[in-house]
Amino acid sequence: MTATATNGSVSTATNGKANGRKWHDKYPHLGKGPLPANVFISEEQFQLERERIFKKVWLNVGRVEQLPKPGDYFVQDIAMCQTSVIVVRSKDGSIHAFHNICSHRGNKVVWNKQGSCQVFTCKFHNWSYALDGRLRYIPDEESFFDLKKDELGLTPVAVEVWEGFIFINVDPQPQESLQDYLGELGTSLHGYPFAEFSATSGSWTTEVKANWKVVKDAFQEIYHVPFLHRRSVPDSFTSKANPYAHALHMQLFPRHARASVFGNADFAPSPVAALAFRYGAFLIRQDFSLSNLPAGVNPLRDKTWTLDLNTIFPCFFVDVSEGSYFTHQFWPVAVDRTLWKSTQYFPRAKTPGQRFSQEYGHVFFRDVILEDGRTFEETQSVLSSGAKKSFVLHDEELLVRHSHHVVEQMIKGQPVDAVFPTTGKEASHA
Ligand code: FES
Ligand SMILES: [Fe+2]
Repeated sequence: MTATATNGSVSTATNGKANGRKWHDKYPHLGKGPLPANVFISEEQFQLERERIFKKVWLNVGRVEQLPKPGDYFVQDIAMCQTSVIVVRSKDGSIHAFHNICSHRGNKVVWNKQGSCQVFTCKFHNWSYALDGRLRYIPDEESFFDLKKDELGLTPVAVEVWEGFIFINVDPQPQESLQDYLGELGTSLHGYPFAEFSATSGSWTTEVKANWKVVKDAFQEIYHVPFLHRRSVPDSFTSKANPYAHALHMQLFPRHARASVFGNADFAPSPVAALAFRYGAFLIRQDFSLSNLPAGVNPLRDKTWTLDLNTIFPCFFVDVSEGSYFTHQFWPVAVDRTLWKSTQYFPRAKTPGQRFSQEYGHVFFRDVILEDGRTFEETQSVLSSGAKKSFVLHDEELLVRHSHHVVEQMIKGQPVDAVFPTTGKEASHA
């Protein structure tokens, strides 16, 4: 490959063709230097990430469809924040979140993962809490001393909703609203039919022996696709004109990022895949009605587009296409362990053919991301060898570099870069 573009100016006629570097020169503040290996294995770094990132920022825990009626709840254990959080729809329809710890002697109030109830009752001594967190009942209350019942409710956790996604923030006084935190990335996705596309969902969850950034980084670059996924998607994201699956567009936000992924509409599916794709639910299509998409989806309106990666810092991705979307959550458990959850969302199937297509797409997605999964533990298993002190990053790995830069700024207590030298279409190769 010849590196011809050093000023970021690349012809649109290439449609993602491998013709040199396009992205890093647009964001000179990130530099082009190596990435220290230590960030994946350092216990000290992990503890700083816990205190200065995860205990301070908005974290996605689920969607509103998980709580259709008052009393419905789910529990998200968040090892990185050293807590468990109950998320519940209260009687007035609003969504609340609470630390899952009893005010009496600290028992975890809810032990199961989800359910529906009218009160939360602690199994230890039967203290009961209303859906809005207020303490409702104490057995043998008269035998306590100086009880201030209105101060003994469940401890609230900040909760806000964006486009149906529920976010919590364990900082008792969050430094900014969820809307401000998501910023331009959030507003530019307004209008994407997340609610309609969330009628059907399927998740894969597994704990892997790898640092959360090892797991996350694999999903924020396409450079690996022609190689690691050569059996599952041999020609879906590459073409003769774009053999290395170069992105169509990349845009960085202060903490978040977006990349538009090239799709080869001429790829050759297997016979069973072709049958499934006939009924929809596949990312690579030729009949996109591009004008219906929000401005933040396929911002360049490129006809060779297939999906956008939207990386929401620190550990949530919302990857959107025209007919469906999927999410990743990367929950750190220890410096070398991560709970990884991927969820695919589809509109309600109207025919058996569409249902079959969605099921095929779901299993196909599992098989592809299992290929990613194999690299995580193999990578982590040798990182502590000390053989490599740093790693080099390709121009197409801009999002990897950017997210490590934000981690570094936050653990050093520096403000994240508020303004980038170029944004939007200026940062594309158009
Ligand atoms: S610890 Fe919950 S009622 Fe005692
Ligand atoms: Fe992959």
